[in-house]
Amino acid sequence: MYINFWYPICTATDLDAQNPQRVEMLGVRLVAFRDASGQAHVLADTCIHRGGSLGKGKVVGDCVQCPYHGWEFDGDGVCTKIPSMGDKKPPARAKVDSYPVQEKYGIVFAFLGDLPEAERPPLLEVSETDTSKWRISGPLVFEIDGYYQRSIENGMDPTHNEFVHPSQGAPALDEDRFAVNEQEWGCEFLAEFGELKDTESHDKVVERDTSGDLSAGSQHLGPNHMLTTINIPGGYCFMQYFYEAPLSDRRTRIFFVNNRNNTLDAAADDGINGQFMNVAQEDRVVIEGLYPKRTPDNLTKELMTSSDAAVVKYREYLAEWDKKGWAIDMKTMQANEGDIAYAIPCPARRESGNWILDPVPLLAPQS
Ligand code: FES
Ligand SMILES: [Fe+2]
Repeated sequence: MYINFWYPICTATDLDAQNPQRVEMLGVRLVAFRDASGQAHVLADTCIHRGGSLGKGKVVGDCVQCPYHGWEFDGDGVCTKIPSMGDKKPPARAKVDSYPVQEKYGIVFAFLGDLPEAERPPLLEVSETDTSKWRISGPLVFEIDGYYQRSIENGMDPTHNEFVHPSQGAPALDEDRFAVNEQEWGCEFLAEFGELKDTESHDKVVERDTSGDLSAGSQHLGPNHMLTTINIPGGYCFMQYFYEAPLSDRRTRIFFVNNRNNTLDAAADDGINGQFMNVAQEDRVVIEGLYPKRTPDNLTKELMTSSDAAVVKYREYLAEWDKKGWAIDMKTMQANEGDIAYAIPCPARRESGNWILDPVPLLAPQS
């Protein structure tokens, strides 16, 4: 898991005017809340007084109030009030990490890292903005008992469809070759699919409408954002955005925005999204059964073929982020579980010192 990317924290509707939300992400605890003007904020959850959980407190004006002794922290993470000190100004060290936030597509995203704004990777933007042509629906939120990188790799893999998705007609790749294009923060591919095969024998072709091409492809941006494009004969297109939240190194929450250029009536959402959630459940079963649970960090530990080109490329991007020193040292964190309150370092840590919470340990950059 990596610092310095955008992570989906909660849905917009999870946050109301009174109640903060406590979220576990990347193995640490965060709190999300809305201030009096409606602006969403994401802070480290651990109160630096005596370890209270801010997410179990309440929203007071523009602040989240710790439930233990009432210290109040504003959206910048600065403690503005210590009730036991009366009118005295809280000390400068009374602050917790505060993360940059973007609220888009019904999701509250936080940049969990300390990079200054100009150096931050972007989040994956939804490009279907013309609602006369597109129905934007979601986010649908679900969890898998699996590691997020395994889930992204599943999306970057065109050959599993034939075997995992019988409900889709078991689409088989036309040819075991496709181009993988590299971009700054991830790669993409588009694969053509040929006949739909019988799901039992995989050799008998099933009759279907062939008035156009069936193609699908995916792109990832960063380690945890992915767009899958599905083109179906007849000019139908689905654009499916997966924003994945690694809650830990073994559990993932997925925020799924599912856009379509057909059947634009909102009343069709449940039926169409239900079909795609069935597909996601088929994937979930396979991902939860993978071993090792997490992607091996060495390509020789699994036997890749040409159809795994996009997965191999994804792992090369991960290796780049390892080299930058952005990988969290989960084993050290887990060894200190219950003893040390860690925080993902926020951008303000580059501006000022005297932070109470320890920054998460990072793996030394690999050469
Ligand atoms: S622990 Fe938060 S106010 Fe005391
Ligand atoms: Fe799948």
